[in-house]
Amino acid sequence: MENFTHYIPTELRFGKGVTERLPEVLSRFGKNILLVYGGGSIKHNGIYDRITSQLSDNGFTLFECAGVEPNPRVSTVERGAAICKNNLIDAVLAVGGGSVIDCAKAIATAAFNDDDAWDMVLHSKPGRKSLPVITVLTMSATGSEFDNKGVISNPETKEKYSSVFSYPVVSFCDPTLTYSVPPYQTACGSADILSHAMEAYFSRTDTSEISDGIAETLMRAVIHNLPIALKEPDNYDARANLMWASSIACSGIPDYGKIYPGKTCHAIGHEFSAVYDSTHGEVLAILTPRWMRFILTKDPSVTSRFTRFARRVWDLTGEDGSGLAFHGIECLEQFLGGIGIATSFSQLGIDDRHFTEIARHADLRGRCSNSFVPLSENDVIEILRNCL
Ligand code: NZQ
Ligand code: ZN
Repeated sequence: MENFTHYIPTELRFGKGVTERLPEVLSRFGKNILLVYGGGSIKHNGIYDRITSQLSDNGFTLFECAGVEPNPRVSTVERGAAICKNNLIDAVLAVGGGSVIDCAKAIATAAFNDDDAWDMVLHSKPGRKSLPVITVLTMSATGSEFDNKGVISNPETKEKYSSVFSYPVVSFCDPTLTYSVPPYQTACGSADILSHAMEAYFSRTDTSEISDGIAETLMRAVIHNLPIALKEPDNYDARANLMWASSIACSGIPDYGKIYPGKTCHAIGHEFSAVYDSTHGEVLAILTPRWMRFILTKDPSVTSRFTRFARRVWDLTGEDGSGLAFHGIECLEQFLGGIGIATSFSQLGIDDRHFTEIARHADLRGRCSNSFVPLSENDVIEILRNCL
């Protein structure tokens, strides 16, 4: 087992009705609040009205940065930072999914930055000065409520970069706020959670029992609860388990004690979304089984990891070997094929014209060439072609 450091300073308040304490928590930081939200879902489901009246009744002054895009753009970060600088904002309140929270983290750091905002995103480092970020999570997916990452896109350069900002100081996770997430987004978010668990699980270290067990539990929780949440959107326990899984899966905890495996599907997926502005979880759902088939064929020494996956995640039995290993991947394909999202790039109307460029950019920081099974640029192109 490898050495690791555990550091997650976020106060996570989980459960029904937890946002009732929002005014009390926000008053720790001051009265001038920048509310960051997306394209309007919080207006349709009533969360916006509830929070804004709760805060104005308690003497807060609210400024707004609305319209954060899925795959948030650096121009929105600049817009939010300008509001912070011009209005002596005390804290940034993100109400939404990963895009809104990522954007809020970047805004909170950009509030102290006078250089170009995209340079700030690219100069990723922990400990940068930031306004406090408080989040109200409305969608289970990225784990942004419990980590220090913020993924920001630059449509001009067609880049999407995962930068390190500050951790949210407090995150409110009320599963009932996710009842209104439509089936497509529920499925994409769950595919993302599954991918975070799998990207930690498929590593060369097989002595980190606790982390592997956590990843297996996360995968099983998604496989069990997603179909329930799709059928019964207001099933509290299904939504609650997906929400808690969201926070843990991307927290780093499933990676503890393991050699960093590269997170290859995320590396490729981010570059893919930078070009096509596509939905993060859906792209991962298309890529992951193809990546699995490719690496298992290329390097049979990883077979035992896949047979463990087959046994412990899919309850398969049988002799160890490639048959069982591939059967586990088939189960994953079957599951992802039944949750109402695309299973190929052609279904998204995408052809291979940008694959070379995506493959070239994906290897940033060796995330493909120095991964669980090292991949060349041509390997990545082949995996992408297999997704068509
Ligand atoms: O725009 P709004 O109104 O917020 O609507 C959103 C959006 O249309 C909607 N939605 C969210 N909560 C809802 C709801 N609709 C109805 N009811 C609700 N309660 O769902 C749509 C998708 O939202 P978005 O925030 O884009 O989804 P997600 O949470 O999947 O975030 C995706 C972004 O996070 C990044 C991705 O790359 C992508 O840019 N990631 C961030 C990570 C991190 N910070 O650690 C790690 C991840 O791997 C990922 O890369
Ligand atoms: Zn992800």
